[in-house]
Amino acid sequence: MGALLEIKDLKKYFKTPRGLLHAVDGINFTLDRGKTLGVVGESGCGKSTLGRLIVHLIEPTGGRIFFEGRDCTDLSRQALLESRRKMQMIFQDPFSSLNPRMTVKETILEPMIIHGMFGGNQSEQALRVREIMDAVGLAENLADSYPHELDGGRRQRIGIARALALEPKFIVCDEPVSALDVSIQAQILNLMQDIQNERGLTYIFITHDLSVVKHISDDICVMYLGNMVEKCPAGEIFKTHCHPYTRALLSAIPIAKAGARRERILLKGEISSPIEPKPGCRFAPRCLEARQDCSETQPDLMEISPGHMVACHLYSKCKSNKT
Ligand SMILES: Nc1ncnc2c1ncn2[C@@H]1O[C@H](COP(=O)(O)OP(=O)(O)OP(=O)(O)O)[C@@H](O)[C@H]1O
Ligand SMILES: [Mg+2]
Repeated sequence: MGALLEIKDLKKYFKTPRGLLHAVDGINFTLDRGKTLGVVGESGCGKSTLGRLIVHLIEPTGGRIFFEGRDCTDLSRQALLESRRKMQMIFQDPFSSLNPRMTVKETILEPMIIHGMFGGNQSEQALRVREIMDAVGLAENLADSYPHELDGGRRQRIGIARALALEPKFIVCDEPVSALDVSIQAQILNLMQDIQNERGLTYIFITHDLSVVKHISDDICVMYLGNMVEKCPAGEIFKTHCHPYTRALLSAIPIAKAGARRERILLKGEISSPIEPKPGCRFAPRCLEARQDCSETQPDLMEISPGHMVACHLYSKCKSNKT
């Protein structure tokens, strides 16, 4: 066991006409082999940018990425190709991330050809395509179908199959079920968990919806405007969550039990701009509990109990909140 991935002070700033946009601004965490880290937060908080940084689709502005104990932040072209084999990404919208002119078989085969899997042996590659299609629940007779001929659930199964083609160790799943019907979401989530257990995969699972990650994550990280505001074991976030933003996110999850009600916390105030952000806590303008120091200095991430980190000046007031 041990850490597969270690992220240190990772930053990504985009140049915009109005100044530097701090999309990811100093993220730190470690992720152990075979585990799932759920990353939640509202639209624009930097979840996809974080995922893309980790799989080297974009270059960081600052910070380091360690994979299997090796610093792989600045990789040569060859090393980048090798690391891409081990790290894959599944995207939100399977329709736009799949090539409409490629059949199911060709889509899964393509990365194997690029990486010269099985020494380029075509019959072994074809065998592997069949094995993966079976693993993701795609019937053999769909091999020559095109994405537009299939429903959303099957299209996402192709996206998963393609990600598995190179036998990766780690997958960033970027909102993989958000575009699917609720009934299909559960099927795909179950499939992803089965595949993880069978192959010992490590996941980062990105979503804006806490209710989606609560079942499949070991740890949950809550992001707000490029910062990590809370990280803790998944089971704990529903009992002793401390950050006021996490509380607001949780209050939006409906309770399945008949007659049960949870008071919804409605956030007021404007979302701060991620462009040249002001000093202080980025959540302060919308925080119902903000004090003066909240808009003056940015709170550090502090460990308030084993494995539970919170970045909030009010952390000392943290108490057990049953939701
Ligand atoms: N290539 C880019 N150039 C400039 N700004 C960008 C670029 N990519 C992302 N951003 C900005 O970075 C911020 C974070 O974007 P990101 O896509 O990572 O958010 P997200 O949390 O994934 O949102 P969503 O839930 O909508 O997918 C946003 O303000 C976005 O506009
Ligand atoms: Mg996104």
